[in-house]
Amino acid sequence: MKNILLGVSGGIAAYKSANIISKLKKKGYNVRVIMTKNATEIITPLTLETLARDRVVVDMWEKKYNYDVEHISLADWADLILVAPTTLNIIGKIANGIADDMLTTVISASKAPVYFALAMNVNMYENPILIENITKLKKFGYNFIESDEGFLACNVNAKGRLKDEEEIVKIVENHFTKENFLIGKKILITAGPTEERLDPIRFLSNHSTGKMGYAIAKKCVEFGAEVILISGPTNLENQNNIETIRVKSALEMYDECLKHFSKIDIFISTAAVADYRPKVTSDKKIKKSEGNLIIELERNPDILLEMSKLKEHQKLIGFCAESENLIENAMGKLKRKNLDFIVANSVEYFSKDNNKVFIISKDESIKELEEMPKEYLAEFIVKSIVK
Ligand code: C5P
Repeated sequence: MKNILLGVSGGIAAYKSANIISKLKKKGYNVRVIMTKNATEIITPLTLETLARDRVVVDMWEKKYNYDVEHISLADWADLILVAPTTLNIIGKIANGIADDMLTTVISASKAPVYFALAMNVNMYENPILIENITKLKKFGYNFIESDEGFLACNVNAKGRLKDEEEIVKIVENHFTKENFLIGKKILITAGPTEERLDPIRFLSNHSTGKMGYAIAKKCVEFGAEVILISGPTNLENQNNIETIRVKSALEMYDECLKHFSKIDIFISTAAVADYRPKVTSDKKIKKSEGNLIIELERNPDILLEMSKLKEHQKLIGFCAESENLIENAMGKLKRKNLDFIVANSVEYFSKDNNKVFIISKDESIKELEEMPKEYLAEFIVKSIVK
């Protein structure tokens, strides 16, 4: 059974950690507990160690009678670290590389996935420093369990309440079940726009932030896949555990896809590839002159279509954005490009944080998903495809 290291920091909700331990134990997990010194003012180590049936660790310097370096052995032992409740202080320390007690030292020394279940006063919750620290930690792959809204210890009804213990345990369980389903799979994803150079300062391109493709890449990694992301120019940063290859033009993106296609299991094409490129590219800035300028364009390869011609065992997933006849057009592309799935959305969601899509599969079944942030949508899309 999996090993859960529960960190308990000094918020009033620390008393709820007893319930979390009890629920985890009932599910059969091995649980060890680290408390911060402040947490011991709220609930005693004795309560938690009785429930965990193991010594609770608080002090880095406590005398003990084996010679393991405890922060290293705990960091290695954990299959998952859950910090519940997590205070603003813990987030601030981890985000800034401070490890001045057992809990922050173990988290910093561990390669296990970490889930921070936030609980604090609403003003602290909205503190921009906390928000910035969370954003930073998310980039490094730390997971967050948002607080619920409810009656807080500080006598107001607001956001900041530790998520229900049952829900927290469910998130831990989901982590282990979902962890597996893409293990051993290699996935190639294209994302963002392409830039088709006209001269040293001008290019043709499409509107695309790359957010959908990056979110899908992140989810695939979370579900255990090995991901290669071929990205056109975006403002998004590379993420841990995702091999990101930056390209500019459709031809460069095509070349990279060709290099990797034979080794992969799934190809997900979210990129807004420019269909045409200028036939002639000038090394010097094109000077304006009287009258109109006519630029001759030539077709770029349809990367997805080309990959479909090479298809052996690979599954192909395309995206399409349409301004009219969404389903009809998407169905046509699904057939023409010999896809397993196509994810169709209307152009009105271009460059937005939210999206609303239909997933159409080879057998022509259509699944309509609710409008939601691209980050969440990615999970639904990946799960629907895998199922
Ligand atoms: O442009 P279209 O609507 O046909 O795009 C549908 C799918 O084809 C998308 O998944 C897109 O990433 C892919 N595509 C491509 N190369 C192109 C045009 C589109 O891979 N030149």
